[in-house]
Amino acid sequence: MAKSMNLEYQAFQLAESKHPSDLKKDIQMLWSALTEERSTELSQYFRKPALRRAYLGYYLPLYANKIAQLIKSLNIKLEAPKVLDLGAGPLSGILGAHLAFGKLSEVLAVDQDLGPMKAGLEFIQGILKDKSLPNIKFARANLKGPPKYWKPRFKPDLIIMAHVLNEFGSGERYIEDKKTLIAHAENQLAPKGILLIVEPASKVPTRDLMRLRDWLYQETPVEIIAPCPPKVETCPLLKDRNNWCHAELNYKRPKELLNIDLQIGLNRDSLKCSYLAISKQGAGYKPTNCRIVSGPMSARGVHRRYACTPEGLLTLAQSERDKNQILSKLTRGDAFELNQAKRLIEKP
Ligand SMILES: C[S@@+](CC[C@H](N)C(=O)[O-])C[C@H]1O[C@@H](n2cnc3c(N)ncnc32)[C@H](O)[C@@H]1O
Repeated sequence: MAKSMNLEYQAFQLAESKHPSDLKKDIQMLWSALTEERSTELSQYFRKPALRRAYLGYYLPLYANKIAQLIKSLNIKLEAPKVLDLGAGPLSGILGAHLAFGKLSEVLAVDQDLGPMKAGLEFIQGILKDKSLPNIKFARANLKGPPKYWKPRFKPDLIIMAHVLNEFGSGERYIEDKKTLIAHAENQLAPKGILLIVEPASKVPTRDLMRLRDWLYQETPVEIIAPCPPKVETCPLLKDRNNWCHAELNYKRPKELLNIDLQIGLNRDSLKCSYLAISKQGAGYKPTNCRIVSGPMSARGVHRRYACTPEGLLTLAQSERDKNQILSKLTRGDAFELNQAKRLIEKP
């Protein structure tokens, strides 16, 4: 972890050296652009040097850190995996995989625009001192088109599709394109390979991903490794239109950046995302059977959390006076075996 934290500050410093304008203001500007005008293509920001280096210096390491944490949480036992990054942008997914595994062998990055991939690679090479990145190949292709334009020559152990599906559009109209891309990607996987889909933690893209999850479970021959427990036919959070399943990954900001975050007004005390990790059938990965899917709820001295399990959505409850505190230490998205918390299940 320390390695990636240093990396974040190094990235910030490198970005500062790339342009004379005030980096903090550029990050703020980029933040409002990213949150308010999602439809704008990344390549447009990358054409403006000030915003490009703001993205590379601030968002690239954050996203890479998030992806690295997700990969680590999957406990994949692989040395130097082969990686395919779909919708790679500035290569946050590849940097994340590099941070998680320490070494990658073959890598293909695919995007409709070459500019962000090239700029990302140059920037990452500038911050990684160990020069351990393998040769990264680029393919410029439309992911809505046939896979012959983007499929790698190797069978990937890990396919990353991060913050891409939501760019296809949201809702029923766009779901077929997403299903087709997921099915094509899954076809490329090595027998024990994993496809990791990451989406923004906000409600609309997450609920779209939850619908895709139900389709994958019910109609396709894949295993869902995370975040869903086994044997969950339909996502219980989909029933409530105000709910969505996302994770808040623990995140300790490097102290050098805390002050800068404060000045910018962005709170970075956790990394939020929604995600789905799937494998081919028989790959041998076992999902954990209990996942925290709510924020903390406290009333009259009792902590409560909702947990997704093969038995449905359960409420776990624990008195604040209980000396062996479990619930208050957990965050949204944490997973554990249900038998460790059986005594906390609240009777309906
Ligand atoms: C928000 S960026 C995410 C970049 C990177 N994966 C990350 O997580 O930081 C989305 C990327 O998806 C690419 N993209 C969107 N739709 C695409 C399509 N139909 N074909 C290829 N790339 C696409 C965009 O060009 C952009 O680089």
